Amino acid sequence: MGCTIVGCGKAAPSLVVTNDDIAHLVDTDNEWIVQRTGIRCRRIAQGESTTDLAVAAAEAALGIETDGPVGKSGWRCAHQGAAPLDPSSIDLIICMTISPDATMPSQAALVRQRLGATDAVCFDLNAACSGCVYGLSVAESMMAAANATRSCTRNPVKRALVIGAERLSRVVDWTDRTTCILFGDGAGAILLEWSDAPLGILSTFLKNTDDTDGHLTLGAAHGANPSPPFPIETPEARLSRAARQTDVLADAADSRRNASATPESGLDPEGFSPYIAMNGQAVFRFAAAAVVEAVEEACARAGVSVDDIDLIVPHQANERIIRYAAKKLGLPIERFQLSINASANTSAASALMALTDALAQGKLRAGDTAVMVGFGGGLTAGSVLFQL
Ligand code: COA
Repeated sequence: MGCTIVGCGKAAPSLVVTNDDIAHLVDTDNEWIVQRTGIRCRRIAQGESTTDLAVAAAEAALGIETDGPVGKSGWRCAHQGAAPLDPSSIDLIICMTISPDATMPSQAALVRQRLGATDAVCFDLNAACSGCVYGLSVAESMMAAANATRSCTRNPVKRALVIGAERLSRVVDWTDRTTCILFGDGAGAILLEWSDAPLGILSTFLKNTDDTDGHLTLGAAHGANPSPPFPIETPEARLSRAARQTDVLADAADSRRNASATPESGLDPEGFSPYIAMNGQAVFRFAAAAVVEAVEEACARAGVSVDDIDLIVPHQANERIIRYAAKKLGLPIERFQLSINASANTSAASALMALTDALAQGKLRAGDTAVMVGFGGGLTAGSVLFQL
């Protein structure tokens, strides 16, 4: 009995933005970007929302064909048959994103509504670029608990959709050449089913490390903590604080209305950076070590040798990170899925999109064993080992 992967899909906006296009915005060139990252182009949303991308990827995983501006492709395991799966049969939707269309309702709620997944419980999960492995791990845990003995004490979860969707172009500083070259928009989805087959997810590994120096941030507060402390107060003090708060809120509303984020500081009027900020070299060092550890740990937990893994599907942040990991693990680079050249870094979506590519390219077949790896802001890292 286990949690098997029975479908996956990816979606991307139609606009292709090349390195040469970006060289018109910032002081960079195609050769530098290709050599340092492996990226040749990325997809950028124009009118497409995160919901549009997420729904298209989910539909591809379910085998639902629709026409629309978002290009999509998918894979479904043979026993699913040709007919599309009814979204109302889905029990759980987890959406991983750092660029949702809204904070409330959740991205997952917007997807649920558009898909017509009327019986699904849904919520968002933020583990930055590790989202895919955290989402899969949480879904697998919920399914295992729901299908264990005394399952009547929990929501039933036989089918789950795990979706990573990002419109990062909205949170990228297009004047910063050290970050804007790296990111793209897109979505990936996996359909999980609880089944009697002894296949599916065989081990998971999650790990957090404090990002004490703020090496990778988005929307981070700079300066004083904006939350006021609330000590126990006398009624007079409470009244006076209420009056002060009303003033503060009125001032905040005024400054929002007159808002003009100062391009010099990159901060909005309340001191929050609306953009991804990164110390590239520090993140590179963290990521390179994290991929190696995550692959080794997932294999050790499943009792499988690293040599027996057919394909490693890592988060696509930089081809050099993947090549470093291959060397350290003593594996040929062909044993790693490389999709970064055409998609760039799509954060929580990237490994899910790369998995769909691997299946489309025939690099992964029924019965094969694979490890998905994530790493990113938090700092987060992790892996999921599964047999298809
Ligand atoms: N085009 C041209 N030159 C650039 C550039 C660009 N887009 N970005 C930086 N440079 C310059 C720097 O200013 C620096 O110039 P200097 O030597 O005159 O000071 C030089 O190139 C080298 O910069 P450096 O930061 O050392 O490059 P790097 O080899 O570390 O590559 C990254 C930069 C961002 C590609 C790399 O550090 C990286 O990929 N880090 C990890 C990022 C990541 O994975 N993030 C997401 C995690 S989920």
